[in-house]
Amino acid sequence: MKVARTIDEARAWLADERGGKTVGLVPTMGALHAGHRSLLDAARRECDVVVASLFVNPAQFGPGDDLAAYPRDEAADLRALEDARVDLAFVPAAEEMYPPGFQTWVDVEDVSRGLEGDARPGHFRGVATVVLKLFLVVGPDRAYFGRKDAQQAEVVAALVRDLALPVELRVLRTVRDADGVALSSRNAYLSADEREAARALPRALAAGADAWRSGGDAAAAARAVLAAEPGVEPDYVEVARWNGHAVLAAAVRIGSTRLIDNAVLGEPE
Ligand code: PAJ
Repeated sequence: MKVARTIDEARAWLADERGGKTVGLVPTMGALHAGHRSLLDAARRECDVVVASLFVNPAQFGPGDDLAAYPRDEAADLRALEDARVDLAFVPAAEEMYPPGFQTWVDVEDVSRGLEGDARPGHFRGVATVVLKLFLVVGPDRAYFGRKDAQQAEVVAALVRDLALPVELRVLRTVRDADGVALSSRNAYLSADEREAARALPRALAAGADAWRSGGDAAAAARAVLAAEPGVEPDYVEVARWNGHAVLAAAVRIGSTRLIDNAVLGEPE
């Protein structure tokens, strides 16, 4: 596996290796888990050349967010990428992606509003900007994202559509632990008790999806489950409608950790 730390290095490697081959890109912030692995495996199955990025993107963290605390273990992540048979790991420093004088931002408007966009002002501007830059560095034929971050996937879909980017988006289902909790790099922050309490989130979303199927109020049903769980503080619980499909999305705080999850309504996930 080639490790490129600069844009020039990544571009030079790709120029030599790609020929007429299809290139798949899996953007990540590292702290890799089985959710990331499912994206890497799909890319490996579907593309000739697999590129993964490891970059904790400062631009998508707000002042009160966990940028400094975000779990970082580059050696373990590189081993995980090697194990997933990634061809190129792109691991830029912050100054490589945001050199001095950086001032060009991508704002995907409507779909960035509400939910995570309201809870984390500027978050999706940071995401859209870094994703576009990664696309411009790598030039992937396909790019892989998780449904776990449902609004992010919609933001990227709008970016691709609006700017006619020549990339096919693949959005893959959420990988969960046996108890239903969605895998997340942030689960590492949870104590044993908090991890136990976190089960309420997928339970609430399932109750919401059940209510929806029987014509009820999905958000109210989910909120009722969360209200019964001490230590789980809902941030938002809402039905979002993006591109004609309804998604029950929630963010909760458990201690100092903020978790998000969602359930696609009206169809089995
Ligand atoms: P990160 O949180 O590292 O996630 C990278 C990708 O893995 C995202 O597309 C995310 O939706 C997906 N993912 C996370 N947990 C998952 C799970 N349990 N099952 C399936 N997929 C999962 O999302 C980001 O990084 C960043 O915002 C990024 C897109 C890299 C831009 O900086």
